[in-house]
Amino acid sequence: MSPGDISGRPGWSFVKRAFSRKRRYRRFVRPSTLIAVFLIFFFISASQWILPIYPPLPDFDEPTSCHEADGYILEDKGICMNTCGDLCFPRVHGICFHHSEVVLCDGQLPFPQHVLDASGGLPSEMRFDMEKPRMKVPVVYKVCPGWNASTLIASDTNSARWIRGLQMVADLSFMPIGNVGPNPHHEAEKVIPAIIFSQLTEFQDSQLFWFADPIDPLMISKWTLGLLNVFSEDLKVKYVQPVAKGEEPLCFEDAILFSGITNSGYIPNTQTHDWLRNRILKHCDIPVMTANRPIQNVVMVHRTNSSRNLKNFDDVKSFLEEELQTPVKMAIPGPWPFCDQVKLVAEADVVLTPHGSHNVNLLAVRPGATIFELFPLLYYVDWYKHYLHAGRVNFYEVFGTWPMEKSSMPFQMRVFTLFYGWKKCFSAKHCMNYGKKQGIYLDLEHFSSQLQTSISKCHITALRSSCIKKID
Ligand SMILES: *[C@@H]1O[C@H](CO)[C@@H](O)[C@H](O)[C@H]1NC(C)=O
Ligand SMILES: *[C@@H]1O[C@H](CO)[C@@H](O)[C@H](O)[C@H]1NC(C)=O
Repeated sequence: MSPGDISGRPGWSFVKRAFSRKRRYRRFVRPSTLIAVFLIFFFISASQWILPIYPPLPDFDEPTSCHEADGYILEDKGICMNTCGDLCFPRVHGICFHHSEVVLCDGQLPFPQHVLDASGGLPSEMRFDMEKPRMKVPVVYKVCPGWNASTLIASDTNSARWIRGLQMVADLSFMPIGNVGPNPHHEAEKVIPAIIFSQLTEFQDSQLFWFADPIDPLMISKWTLGLLNVFSEDLKVKYVQPVAKGEEPLCFEDAILFSGITNSGYIPNTQTHDWLRNRILKHCDIPVMTANRPIQNVVMVHRTNSSRNLKNFDDVKSFLEEELQTPVKMAIPGPWPFCDQVKLVAEADVVLTPHGSHNVNLLAVRPGATIFELFPLLYYVDWYKHYLHAGRVNFYEVFGTWPMEKSSMPFQMRVFTLFYGWKKCFSAKHCMNYGKKQGIYLDLEHFSSQLQTSISKCHITALRSSCIKKID
């Protein structure tokens, strides 16, 4: 009944009567009781329905394929590539960092759609360590002090600090705080492209300006600081303080931004990957060589005290030792000195590792080595496949499961399994966050078939394998 109908009735008495009748009715059966009874029945039947769910198998669409690119080309609006899908690092002509906003200065030509659509892309907000540890600051278009929008050159002014020429600028976006600690993966997607760009002639006089504090061990990982140290002759990093309240803005005439989340396909080709790897190995005094044939070093990375640890680690280890007839070493990732982290995997011929940001270290794995990346049930992201696409390694993704026979699957996992499955879980934030926090059970039968594939393709050369003869 619409309000119009009520107004047609004689006065408000009808409404009052309706309310009082409702009150009398409530004395007999409260609607809340009815609802509760209904909900109990609903949940009992729903749980009966969810209970027999088996862990689902992945059902993804065709994966993005990666290919070799010539290298990076500096364009007017960014540096874009298409090694594993579209990826761009935007280039802005005139940008001012204020305390409460990031201003893209007037005169900026509109960004072409492919830059806006690409992973990386132009951020709508950036993050700085200010009143709050990762304070969000919006990116807006406005007038900048001293900026000449037609010449794209700034003149000296007391109301801004201008930095001239082409530079690189990074913020703290996607760099977590708290007990999840620094995230070398999200640092690497800012820092590794910057290292590679530093090799282009246009960047000869450029530095990386990073709104970060290298002294804070919870902000930048030891791995990334170590990596920057390896390339310190190539890339100069200037750590900058966020702009304080009331302070004049820090402005750049011409800047490449590292702020967005990338698809991790930022190493353009084999030559670049080899260059990065060899520089690291040389720095850490590790021999540069290809994987041993037959294999000698098998490493299982164990995230002992963390999410995504391998729950049936010992079973998998004995299985691998039996299958490969080689002892398996355990490697524990952690905030160790850079070269100690690199050594965990750099001498391995086979690496088994759960998904996680410690896998940036796989950059140093030997050509010809085989890597198995393990995922917990429902959680999958193709970042490391993209990251290593030019690494000349054999890369396998192994999807975890949940044992039905032991403890039953947690209720929440059943619900997510039913409503999202592998395919949709990543795009539903609560499911994605749940999935990535779980342990990993490896189904040995499933893993065995992947191991057999890698052996039959001569990716893994076991002792007495016919592959040795074929190659030699
Ligand atoms: C920008 O520079 C051009 C060329 O030097 C000059 O003619 C123009 O007046 C300048 N505009 C402003 C707003 O200063
Ligand atoms: C595991 O992590 C917890 C919490 O961060 C910590 O208190 C504990 O010492 C860690 N244990 C090991 C063996 O590292």
